[in-house]
Amino acid sequence: MAYKVLIRSEIEPYRTIIPMLEEHCQIHRWNPLDPKPADEILNSIEGVYNYGHYSFTTEYMDQMPALRVISNFGVGVDHIDLQGAKERGIPVGNTPNVLDGATADMTFALLLAGARNLVSGDRFARSPDFIAYDPSFMLGQEVHHQVLGIIGLGNIGYQVARRALGFDMTVLYHNRNRNPAAEADLGARYVALDELLQQADFVALNMPLTDETREMIGRRELALMKESAVLVNAARGGVIDHQALLETLRAGKLHAAALDVTEPEPLPRDHPLLALDNVIIMPHLGTATEQTRQAMAERSVGNLLAGLKGKELPSRIV
Ligand code: 8YV
Repeated sequence: MAYKVLIRSEIEPYRTIIPMLEEHCQIHRWNPLDPKPADEILNSIEGVYNYGHYSFTTEYMDQMPALRVISNFGVGVDHIDLQGAKERGIPVGNTPNVLDGATADMTFALLLAGARNLVSGDRFARSPDFIAYDPSFMLGQEVHHQVLGIIGLGNIGYQVARRALGFDMTVLYHNRNRNPAAEADLGARYVALDELLQQADFVALNMPLTDETREMIGRRELALMKESAVLVNAARGGVIDHQALLETLRAGKLHAAALDVTEPEPLPRDHPLLALDNVIIMPHLGTATEQTRQAMAERSVGNLLAGLKGKELPSRIV
């Protein structure tokens, strides 16, 4: 018997997901921009596969009385009401670990690109303005032997710290809890948030978006950073106050910001951040490699099927 599964997504899932699901499930699609499916469909839904960052609140859960598992494609679950799912006894799966390396690679790519003007340099090299090489133009910031401050030293932050050692960097971190493994294995030093912001040449944001971390980097925090510093965000746009960031970058009070994520995502096409040269903005590609997408697909489908069969989820967040 095929399980009844609802895919909530405006976009087509990564190419291997539907074939994997179809082996066991009857799939209903719900584009969150469309009206809700008929009650008889919602009444039959046993599992929800959440692809993308559409909010999944108790309002939706309560419309699906047979729901017994929610599987999220991705590690970040800030768009799902976890407390509501817990109260209803619905397990929620996500995809930690399998994406740590890819996200840390992107964090480092952004760090290097921000430091060495990679994107503005590329734009300039293609433009009609590049008519003569000048050793004094587009000077960046050194990366090796500098101080990296990581905010959020979980699995991804740990991988970022490992990469930093290859560049002979000193690693500071700030986190809800101390990370003894990162301290022992990598020599990362725990410091208070303000000290990290004041001392770091590079600040990497690798924390989840929660009530505690929302707009954690605001006007006050940006003002503590060095004017030569680079801010890298591979977490969630919501951890930065974008208006404060815009003002800071416009005033030349940071060397650069390199953002894999924004709030909202995408930014409105006329957003003033898009016009600045000292900001790099990616369309949320932190985990976007073939290998990691496949691993996320397998883990998230595994979570869904386990929940449907009443088994423990391979990666369960609540
Ligand atoms: C995913 C992410 O690609 O895993 C996460 O939390 O932010 C991403 O890199 C995304 O969640 C899938 O939409």
